[in-house]
Amino acid sequence: MNPEDTLQEARERIGACADEVALKDIEREFVGKKGLVAAMLAEIPKLEPADRKAHGQKANSLKQAILELIGERQKTFETGKLDSARRADGFDPTVPAPQARRGSLHPITQVTRELEDLFISMGYEVLDGPEVELDHYNFEALNITKDHPARDSQDTFYCDEEGSLVLRTHTSPVQIRAMEKREPPFRVVAPGRVFRQETTDASHDHTFYQMEGMVVGKDISVAHLIGTMKTLLRGIFERDLDVRLRPGHFPFVEPGFELDARCPFCQSGCSVCKRTTWIELLPCGLIHPNVLRAGGIDPEQWSGFAFGLGLSRLVMLRHAIDDVRHLLDGDIRFLEQF
Ligand code: DAH
Repeated sequence: MNPEDTLQEARERIGACADEVALKDIEREFVGKKGLVAAMLAEIPKLEPADRKAHGQKANSLKQAILELIGERQKTFETGKLDSARRADGFDPTVPAPQARRGSLHPITQVTRELEDLFISMGYEVLDGPEVELDHYNFEALNITKDHPARDSQDTFYCDEEGSLVLRTHTSPVQIRAMEKREPPFRVVAPGRVFRQETTDASHDHTFYQMEGMVVGKDISVAHLIGTMKTLLRGIFERDLDVRLRPGHFPFVEPGFELDARCPFCQSGCSVCKRTTWIELLPCGLIHPNVLRAGGIDPEQWSGFAFGLGLSRLVMLRHAIDDVRHLLDGDIRFLEQF
């Protein structure tokens, strides 16, 4: 059959075919691997060299033309399918889907990730610890004695009758877990959720977030602590802020401090710094020898500092949030702002 007749036949059959299956059969018959066009091409070697080129071109343009006809017919089947779907039950698959609403990271997650990056850049490891913790790690190994007020059931959620399992009340237990698995020197931070049994109000919640930090090395001193805290502040507030230390008492550090930073929001006193120009940033100190010992580290050889950054408080400070409970109550109107 000459190419013109073949094309004519293909056109008629494609136009008349009933469905996509029939169309596939036609495609195979004409332009498939063993189809008519393939047969034409297979003849080429038997032809006079002078005729080969023209023959090949004819076969190829025939193939092109048939493929185009098939493509057009295929489209009519697809629109046909949509039309009948639309009619069937009122569902219209051609209507564009509603825009998906995009979420965003929770402000606590945002600040956690930023600080993780900052500490990683200073050579720290980021650690995780269990939220249900043994009394040993949460209290005992941190030099918090049995009669310490923090152990009161008013303050701590106990998980068993004997009182050996608690919801961790701070991220400090990760200090002990870190020491047990490492040889000094090392630097770690451990962000996470902590829990306290207390009456909630605008500045207290039963669940909040902290980031523990710990450095153990040779001759680590308060100077290292202050330097690190200044770097931390630069990371958070994007500028240098003065800091000061006040004495603070925590059983797991000696000496212990409350570190304040110059209020980043004012020069002469505002509501955030309660008109003092200082904001309480975090408690910290040099690790108590008993704590190093509890972690299997010799306090004669090694020393270190630790700090406990309140992430929930930091987020409130950063975004001027006036009630800590917003951070957990999952109100979309609140969360959409971040
Ligand atoms: N764990 C303490 C708390 O939650 C905070 C703290 C104080 C952590 C002093 C420290 C530190 O690492 O050195 O109240």
